[in-house]
Amino acid sequence: MPVDLNNAQPLAWDSATLDADTKAMLDNLQPNILRAHVREHLSVLFVRFNDVKEGRAFLRHVATTKMKSARKHLEEVRDFAAKGRRGTPYVGVGISKAGYRDLGHSVEDLRKFGDKVFRDGMKRRIAEVNDPPVEMWERTYQREIHAVIMIGDAEPERVAALREEILGELPESARLLGEETGQGMRNPAGDGIEHFGYVDGRSQPLFVKDEVDKEPKKHWNPAFPLSNVLVPDPFAPNPVRHHGSYLVFRKLEQNVRAFKEIERDLADNLGLAGADRDRAGAMIVGRFRDGTPLTSKAKAGGGPVSNDFTFDDDGEGTKCPFSGHIRKTNPRSFGREVLMARRGQTYGERTDQPWDDSPPETRPSGEVGLLFMAFNGSLVSQFEFTQQSWANNPDFLNPATGHDPVIGQGARDIKVTFPKVWGKPEMSTPQAQVAQTVTMRGGEYFFAPSLAYLRNL
Ligand code: HEM
Repeated sequence: MPVDLNNAQPLAWDSATLDADTKAMLDNLQPNILRAHVREHLSVLFVRFNDVKEGRAFLRHVATTKMKSARKHLEEVRDFAAKGRRGTPYVGVGISKAGYRDLGHSVEDLRKFGDKVFRDGMKRRIAEVNDPPVEMWERTYQREIHAVIMIGDAEPERVAALREEILGELPESARLLGEETGQGMRNPAGDGIEHFGYVDGRSQPLFVKDEVDKEPKKHWNPAFPLSNVLVPDPFAPNPVRHHGSYLVFRKLEQNVRAFKEIERDLADNLGLAGADRDRAGAMIVGRFRDGTPLTSKAKAGGGPVSNDFTFDDDGEGTKCPFSGHIRKTNPRSFGREVLMARRGQTYGERTDQPWDDSPPETRPSGEVGLLFMAFNGSLVSQFEFTQQSWANNPDFLNPATGHDPVIGQGARDIKVTFPKVWGKPEMSTPQAQVAQTVTMRGGEYFFAPSLAYLRNL
């Protein structure tokens, strides 16, 4: 029975009754798509091939000697939980449309990729998502990238060793165009955070039963069909069993100092005092720094970060503004098919503590940010739709909602209002939108093919 990508039931991947096609799918799928892989330390390599035969041989070698399947990853997670047995590192591969061409696929052949945006590549989509012109991107991303190789693990030494090994195996004809180094950051509670100091990566579409089972589900159903991230791999030996995923990569620099000034000024403007001052930043993100959703009034004392909420009892946006980053990127009452599996990692070294209350002057104004990565079943109707029709759209849901204050791109002309008191319809006077503090430095669209494709190159 072909794998039903639209089945909303979470995948019981280790069930004895799993059908043969689904088993084959898991044996041929890359890890980190259906379930996040540990990548506390991450090396991201951007490669150009220049020779069909050598490019193919290199990828085949990486796939057969260094890459594990989604099923192996799920087994490793289970064994770690049960026996504390450490898993193997993550190696993932994405190929751009230019890369497929350089590996010998014709333009005609490339039409088999249903996603037009992937066939265009990121450089040709600037106008649609209001990205900076390519001349402003970092040099690596201005060039024609053919493949991305992602290496992740909990231990930096294992990542460094694999990076060396893989670079040593690059053929003479290929070039390393550039690389990024990601490194996870955590707050004192142990939750992963991004550079503005907020818990990140908490809300995800979940696909496997073990993960779904652990979540409270009174308000929000975290289980999603595989179609949110998987499509048949058009060049694999058997696309009924062999799947891949569209991967968006964007280097997003964060001006932390400016963001912290904005938090302070917004709190001042709204006359917020004491603990309520934290609500300024929370209205920008939609969650407090510790991850507590702004639909709850204040920080909960300890406990796991909640994801079991909707905005249904906040129809006026007096708790969480409609512009809040998480409300824009997941309104929750609709648009479930838009949600991507985010698998990014922070980059850049800091000497300060991102989660504390130190003054803005002590914060970095550049050189740090997010290597945004997300797996999609469709780039055009998931990543691009989110960026274009939700984040960049000042009239999202209601007139004069404003841009997404975290990731919105484009002129922020209109004025906006904020609730002065949590949950009360008392709004501020119209004021300028908060300035943009996240800048796109470059990126590309890739397809993460099935292992079956890579092993058969
Ligand atoms: C959630 C920060 C870029 C889409 C979040 C959260 C934070 C955050 C703090 C809350 C944690 C969570 O709910 O998991 C940032 C920062 C970014 C960035 C600092 C850039 C530097 C993006 C981009 C997109 C995006 C480019 C997509 C176009 C989402 C989505 C969620 C989210 C879909 C989950 C919302 C939910 O399901 O409730 N982000 N983000 N983010 N972000 Fe971002």
